[in-house]
Amino acid sequence: MKKEMKVTPWEVSGDIDYGELIKKFGMSKLDDNILSRIKKHTKELHPMLKRKVFFAHRDLGWLLDQYEKGNKFFLYTGCGPSGPIHLGHLGTWIFTKWLQDKFGVELWFQFTDDEKFLFKRKSYEEIQKWTYENMLDIIALGFNPRKTHFLVDTKHANLLYPEAIKFAKKITFSTVKAAFGFTNDKNIGEIFFTSMQAAPAVIPSVLKKKNIPCLIPLAIDQDPHFRVARDVYPKLGYYKPAIIHSRFIPPLTGVKGKMSSSESSMAILTTDSPKEVERKIKKYAFSGGKDTTKEHREKGGNPDIDVCFQYLKFLFEPDDKKLEKIYNDYKSGKLLTSELKEITIKKINAFLKQHQKRRKKAKKQISKFMYKD
Ligand code: TRP
Repeated sequence: MKKEMKVTPWEVSGDIDYGELIKKFGMSKLDDNILSRIKKHTKELHPMLKRKVFFAHRDLGWLLDQYEKGNKFFLYTGCGPSGPIHLGHLGTWIFTKWLQDKFGVELWFQFTDDEKFLFKRKSYEEIQKWTYENMLDIIALGFNPRKTHFLVDTKHANLLYPEAIKFAKKITFSTVKAAFGFTNDKNIGEIFFTSMQAAPAVIPSVLKKKNIPCLIPLAIDQDPHFRVARDVYPKLGYYKPAIIHSRFIPPLTGVKGKMSSSESSMAILTTDSPKEVERKIKKYAFSGGKDTTKEHREKGGNPDIDVCFQYLKFLFEPDDKKLEKIYNDYKSGKLLTSELKEITIKKINAFLKQHQKRRKKAKKQISKFMYKD
């Protein structure tokens, strides 16, 4: 029996069927036609596009029409700072950086410290600490400081709040109840929050006093915010933002659901040492292998449910030929689970070594990224 899937920004459960979600949320499939339109401009396709890690969109065709007419878009995405950054977070941001480089566009990046304060049992001070820590990770991914603007909800309230209330006035309590499954025990800040996340998609238009198209790369659980706000944008005189949606990068313990920062002892953090990565992969990474080497050699493993294989596919093995070989070898039993884990540990540690170096340097760069009016 399938468990009913639930996908909201604060709860993901059940067996996720991405094809079903496209229908349920009313999105469009990221098909070959739209991919080839992207490729016309980017010359190559990012592995996350080729491999359908990004699998759906809204109004991307329209956004490309605009771009082709010389009407450049900006990118908007964000981070909810409630804990350390783990590998599951990185997909959207790595892809966003690729888009920034390929299209040469601005990125507006929101830190929803208000959200995490309102929704989590954490103090305001703790959330501020995570906001700072998470900024280091974002900067370490290599965004262009001249084209990237950080907005922190409680610090840039002067800019965001006047726009947020315009959304809030046009979204009813019953709409957010239905979209998010809110019950009457929700605090009143939670009910308001969607309007804060909707606002950055219009900020550049407000500042430039003209309409600028917006593209939002996000993980699918964030879509409900923009579904709720979607009809409000034109009512306020703006374009609806285009969106490109990614799947969840699976948690260490299995290919279902999404990696959560509240289970961070299990997730691989960007600050983990090589030893820690090795320990977590060996101990927790859900394997698609057979119980014994003999059986594995005979019957082969299942890469489709193997978490290490999924990490290589989502993040760490950009070479299609190499990935395919690993897939086939694991499936045939030629490649053992211990060997696949070894490959994955090496890849993750090579990535983290560079990331951690850049993360240290990022401390001096924060003020360059912070939006100043
Ligand atoms: N609410 C998101 C989170 O908890 C962060 C976020 C803010 C975001 N604005 C966004 C994510 C826009 C995607 C797109 O992670």
